[in-house]
Amino acid sequence: MKKKILVTGGTGYIGSHTTVELIEEGFEPIIIDNLYNSEAVVVDRIQKITGVKPHLEIFDLCDQEKLDRFIQKNNDISAVIHFAAYKAVGESVNKPLEYYRNNLLSLIYLLDIMKHHGIPSLVFSSSCTVYGQPEKLPVTENAPLQPATSPYGNTKQIGESIIRDTTVSDKNIKAISLRYFNPIGAHPSALIGELPRGIPENLVPFLTQTGYGIREELKVFGNDYNTPDGSCIRDYLHVVDLAKAHVIAIKRLIEGKSKTNYEVFNLGTGKGVSVLEAIKSFERVSGIKLKYKIVGRRAGDIEKIWANPSYANKELGWKTLSSLDEAMKTAWDWEKMFRNNKL
Ligand code: UD1
Repeated sequence: MKKKILVTGGTGYIGSHTTVELIEEGFEPIIIDNLYNSEAVVVDRIQKITGVKPHLEIFDLCDQEKLDRFIQKNNDISAVIHFAAYKAVGESVNKPLEYYRNNLLSLIYLLDIMKHHGIPSLVFSSSCTVYGQPEKLPVTENAPLQPATSPYGNTKQIGESIIRDTTVSDKNIKAISLRYFNPIGAHPSALIGELPRGIPENLVPFLTQTGYGIREELKVFGNDYNTPDGSCIRDYLHVVDLAKAHVIAIKRLIEGKSKTNYEVFNLGTGKGVSVLEAIKSFERVSGIKLKYKIVGRRAGDIEKIWANPSYANKELGWKTLSSLDEAMKTAWDWEKMFRNNKL
């Protein structure tokens, strides 16, 4: 019997890649998604890749009644991976209540049904944003958390606390928070990838859209940071590598291998890459000279952060396999596939 895994936000960017990996590892993912930032057709594309069409339930997790009804009908779920959340940093500053309501209520309702229906395992999408600007780099899981610089970031910190407290109070629930650094790229089939609404906030979709001619030029937010080339540094990891970490985390929970009821892992490559280096990588893999200009700093940006992923390497037996160029190439292939209306 295949184990059923509830994947919230499973048609989204990281959710869809994880759903593919779950299917390939013999699990039966069941998706709940309100399609706020994704499309139902994603499950057909997952079917093209894997041969299996995952079940999709379209509703909002903040609708507690629907969630309850869903779980009554699906009482054999082994574990939950919770991706569904708003994630635009800038938007969260303007719409804090929407962010707190959506990101926190959905989590609370999920934990509630886990408690009441005896679902023992949760993997949570967290972010390196919880570290703020760390004093020491590369950053380890033990680094002190800093006050969040956006409501979005705060929902990740509060979300982690809610989960930790729940695992303390209810020993039947075990959870793992995965702190992602900067996921980029797409599935090598180019059938699924990142599909931002409107103008992208994140660097790589903006890069590929500019390369394709949809945006006139990329704005590089600042070249006066205390970094070798003056632009900000991040740790960009391939979304497929990231997706595989979720399957490992799920197995760890299901097989009872967690060291404590609540665990946290950094997921990154361990390598810092500047914005200007990311542009060079895009130019290398696409053969396109990218139009960009240096502009002022973006409010709230952190100067530099990259992961120390040793704990995940050792404990999960996980590490990133793709290089920056490989990941960037899949992002570019996806952009072309999508824009050429091949999908
Ligand atoms: C941010 C959040 C992260 C969140 C992610 C999801 C923080 C500190 N980080 O990541 O937690 O999970 O968004 O959306 O809150 N850049 C440009 N030009 C652009 C776009 C970006 O120069 O048009 C630069 C940024 O200044 C930054 C780098 O590219 O240095 C990466 O930016 P981005 O892709 O937006 O990710 P983060 O801000 O690192």
